[in-house]
Amino acid sequence: MKILITGGTGYIGSHTIVDLINNGFEVISADSFLNSDGSALQGIEKITGRKIKNYKVDLTNKEDTEIIFKENPDIAGVIHFAALKAVGESVEKPILYFDNNINSLLNILDNIVKYGVKYFVFSSSCTVYGSPDKLPVDEHTPIQEAESPYGRTKQVSEMIAKDVLSNTNVKAIMLRYFNPAGAHESGKMGESPALPPLNLVPIITETAIGKRDSMMVFGDDYNTRDGSAIRDYIHVMDLADAHTKSLQYLIDNPKALDYDFFNLGIGQGVTVLEAINAFEEVTGEKLNYSIAPRRPGDIPAIYADYTKAKTLLKWNPKRNIEDIMKSAWEWEKVRSN
Ligand SMILES: NC(=O)c1ccc[n+]([C@@H]2O[C@H](COP(=O)([O-])OP(=O)(O)OC[C@H]3O[C@@H](n4cnc5c(N)ncnc54)[C@H](O)[C@@H]3O)[C@@H](O)[C@H]2O)c1
Repeated sequence: MKILITGGTGYIGSHTIVDLINNGFEVISADSFLNSDGSALQGIEKITGRKIKNYKVDLTNKEDTEIIFKENPDIAGVIHFAALKAVGESVEKPILYFDNNINSLLNILDNIVKYGVKYFVFSSSCTVYGSPDKLPVDEHTPIQEAESPYGRTKQVSEMIAKDVLSNTNVKAIMLRYFNPAGAHESGKMGESPALPPLNLVPIITETAIGKRDSMMVFGDDYNTRDGSAIRDYIHVMDLADAHTKSLQYLIDNPKALDYDFFNLGIGQGVTVLEAINAFEEVTGEKLNYSIAPRRPGDIPAIYADYTKAKTLLKWNPKRNIEDIMKSAWEWEKVRSN
């Protein structure tokens, strides 16, 4: 069965391609290299022995996007990762974020309906919950005002997908990721963004390897067990597995809801200081960090209740924060060589 992965040379897309291939799917990718250098394609080949075709297409371009579907009328499913994802940048450049993330989605959905694609899986985010009143967050937790234009693109994208795909034969799943981190355990693939990373784990590994002199922990006065903010870090290979299981669930269950959504986290909140500690323990490296004031827009704590994914998708994340740090460090050493 042929699956189109948009954003397939990016971080989560490339790891998902490996998992899909290992589970017998045929995969093609569409990625403009807006935030990747394309090297993940070699990583995928080294791990799976398969060469993946990537359409170097800007998915906001209607005509170019349609060419992918015209040339591949047998696409059965699309997993749509392609998007810009930096929260801070989205505050500075909201038009860029709405243009890129919404127009690419519209073009993809248009072709999905036109070319009779059956399954659609979308990369959403826990940012749709804003700053939740109650933890852990399950899928009944109310959607709150978005904290950034990026978060708004995810909220709006979910609604657009629902509106466009209702009354069609397409079945859709929205996956709300918590904090993806870590790398493929082979050390052959990991996160290598074209733009400087803004999330905690690559900042930790870049500091430890000496690409950064030091790093900052934003806030040690939150109402948490050690004062630093709590997040739910999910290993990228567990996340990849959830995408394969989502597709399989839609394929195996003709009676599945036409539109559904799932939280993907491991259900354990880890503070920033605990994450740093875990890194130091598994790697033996000492991190140079200092405490800085809270950043505006950061929420104190969020972690998932993933019972729904466990029950329906039969998804059970296997890795913890130590596995994340270990694999991310191995990858950092490889890519810095
Ligand atoms: N990484 C996270 O922390 C996180 C958390 C929640 C949700 N998400 C979502 O998951 C998805 C994948 O994230 P990621 O971490 O792999 O990001 P990434 O930047 O590594 O990958 C996204 C890929 O999409 C491509 N792309 C972006 N706009 C495009 C366009 N218009 N046309 C063609 N290609 C385009 C980029 O070149 C990049 O390779 C995104 O939708 C992101 O918003 C990520």
